[in-house]
Amino acid sequence: MLARSALVVASVVTALSILSGCTADPEGSSPVTAVADPPEHHGQCGVTDPTLAQLAKPRGKTIGTAYRSTYAQNDPCYREVALAEFDSLTTEIGTMMNTVQPEPGVFDFREADAVADLAAQHHKDFQIHSLIWDPLDQLQWEIVPSAIRAMAPDRRHQLMIDSITTVMKRYAGRASTVTVVNEAFDQVGHLQPNAWWDTTHNDEYIFDAFRAARLADPTAELYYNDHSAETNSDKSNAIYDLVKRLRDTTVEVDVNGQTVARPLIDGMGFQGHMLGGADQQPNISDIESNVQRFAALGVDVRFTELDVRVPVLNGVATVADLDRQRLVYNMMTQVCLNQPRCTGLTLWGFTDKRSWITDYPDSFSGYGAATPLTDDYRRKPAWKGIADALR
Ligand code: XIL
Repeated sequence: MLARSALVVASVVTALSILSGCTADPEGSSPVTAVADPPEHHGQCGVTDPTLAQLAKPRGKTIGTAYRSTYAQNDPCYREVALAEFDSLTTEIGTMMNTVQPEPGVFDFREADAVADLAAQHHKDFQIHSLIWDPLDQLQWEIVPSAIRAMAPDRRHQLMIDSITTVMKRYAGRASTVTVVNEAFDQVGHLQPNAWWDTTHNDEYIFDAFRAARLADPTAELYYNDHSAETNSDKSNAIYDLVKRLRDTTVEVDVNGQTVARPLIDGMGFQGHMLGGADQQPNISDIESNVQRFAALGVDVRFTELDVRVPVLNGVATVADLDRQRLVYNMMTQVCLNQPRCTGLTLWGFTDKRSWITDYPDSFSGYGAATPLTDDYRRKPAWKGIADALR
């Protein structure tokens, strides 16, 4: 059974790559480390025009991916394909607290700089992800380092402000968009009792975080970000209420020597970790109406971590599920295209070789293959789902 589905997938992928002309470019003779700038070359890793970035551009949306520089170290195609297919790069881990501030007051910008520099070299949009986040269901990830968690609440609150200020100032003028606070709510819309909440015991810490971010860099677009908030629900209702109050709250900042009052928030990030198996297709009209009510608050919206996991057996999905996955990617892209305030999509990884769904199989037991490219960077039906919507 497994061998059969693996064979079917392999033959479909081969057929697709032949159809799309997705074979190595015979012209591509320059070494992958010496990427021409511009234009991007698509020579070594099977990327052909049009790419997703090329298709997104005339639609006025950006299409990005989470990026980890370490993934590129022994795998030049990771970098090359990311640069070819996407026009926006987001720090996948580089600006998470355990990477950027592993000890209280000790900053390490190497990973975030690597992504920022790569984006700048290639004239890509650069986005910062998740300054304030403490996933209580994944404490073993230690996103909040233990020495920070152990601090007295008032000192931890000050560390939060200092950390936001330091990161925002470092990337001021370079980061277009920053998800300041991530996943503050549980599934029923109550504030998570996390290490940051614990500094105020209400949502004041969120306001303080946004205020610090705005003061440090008045030009970056500031987002609240959460998962499982795409549809109308108790959770998205609670987030809506928060975003509304953040939007209604202003802080005075200095822009070109002028003092101006700016709202604390610019955008709502819907993570978009979707399921694509049978009977798991999302309710698109529900998503559309939910996204629209946020847009009506006057904020931008974005799908910030889009991926679509499907049932797998030993990592292999069925042809039927890969096609359902294509449809979900297609519909989510359509939702963004139909929403004037949607700035675009960021994929949370672009190859099944390297994604958090692949990296944490225990968290997604029985699911995988969540991205639009195979392990060896071939375009899956999912890629076509995004491309078809953009065309
Ligand atoms: C994940 C990264 O992809 C992993 O590399 C890291 O080890 C843990 O975090 N929601 C989020 C993202 O907001 O920051 C998470 O990213 C995935 C879930």
